Amino acid sequence: MSTPLAGHRALITGAYGTLGTAICRRLHADGAGLLMVGRSAARLEELAATLAAESAAAGGASAPLETLAVDLAAADAVGTIAGAAAAGGGLDLLVNNAAIQGPIGPLWENDWDAWQETIRIDLLVPVALCRALVGQLGRNGRRGKIVNISGGGATGPRPNFSAYGVAKAALVRFTETFAHEVRERQIDINAIAPGVIASQMTQAILAAGNTRAGNTEAATARKAVDGDGSAQDKAAALTGWLASAASDGITGRLLAALWDPWPSLDQRAADLASSDIYTLRRIVPEDRGRHWE
Ligand SMILES: NC(=O)c1ccc[n+]([C@@H]2O[C@H](COP(=O)([O-])OP(=O)(O)OC[C@H]3O[C@@H](n4cnc5c(N)ncnc54)[C@H](OP(=O)(O)O)[C@@H]3O)[C@@H](O)[C@H]2O)c1
Repeated sequence: MSTPLAGHRALITGAYGTLGTAICRRLHADGAGLLMVGRSAARLEELAATLAAESAAAGGASAPLETLAVDLAAADAVGTIAGAAAAGGGLDLLVNNAAIQGPIGPLWENDWDAWQETIRIDLLVPVALCRALVGQLGRNGRRGKIVNISGGGATGPRPNFSAYGVAKAALVRFTETFAHEVRERQIDINAIAPGVIASQMTQAILAAGNTRAGNTEAATARKAVDGDGSAQDKAAALTGWLASAASDGITGRLLAALWDPWPSLDQRAADLASSDIYTLRRIVPEDRGRHWE
């Protein structure tokens, strides 16, 4: 078995969620030790047992599996996580994966506390974790890596999902900005658009219904729920690639797990670094073939 992440230590928030589980499974199969963060201690333990059993079945030694039960909404959550990261000797990788869907429907009908809480969990907590952990990222001469999971609304308007879309767009802009700030620290930070995945999030859209979510959103969620359950695997594979040395120097990008040719992007690292490809930009008339005086 190939273990490109042997000796690495990765912290994943939202570890037992649908995408979180796929990311943990992929990183662990690639040899990484995991610090798995989530709200439920029991579900974290269950995931750790599953991954350990999978390693045993594959005949390999299991890299360390640590769990940390913490509610990211708690005031001391970031400090608790930073303490656990430091106690284990720092990190090679931070994956900001945990998120909530937030209120669905027109803004004026959204509960304002729920709207603000969505910005907190989906944007402020990931940013705070980057800030708190920046000094712990990168070990044994390796580059530190951060992966922020983006989502629908980041690259265009997403009516009825204003809190979620605003948080995810800002997370992408933060990713691009922070990439410049940490370049000399030898840290790569990228965002991933995972595509639509059947999870609590899609269930929340179906529960909200067509009237609140909109027909297109409801149909997309239905399609995901009726899918084969593997939609998260490509985003997990991309996370593994971004964690590995193969992606060294690729930073500040938003990569679409399903559509971008990321497995071969190492051959385009210089081209990427000198361009704005895979970033958020303003469109001007010339980009659409118009010339306005
Ligand atoms: N599903 C999609 O179609 C889709 C599309 C694009 C992007 N994404 C992104 O993918 C990531 C994973 O989402 P998912 O689809 O896998 O959904 P999910 O299964 O609901 O996973 C989200 C995870 O975040 C955790 N979480 C939420 N609030 C938390 C808190 N206050 N403290 C600690 N943990 C908390 C959840 O824990 P609990 O179960 O305990 O609440 C859950 O484990 C998210 O960043 C999401 O925005 C999803």
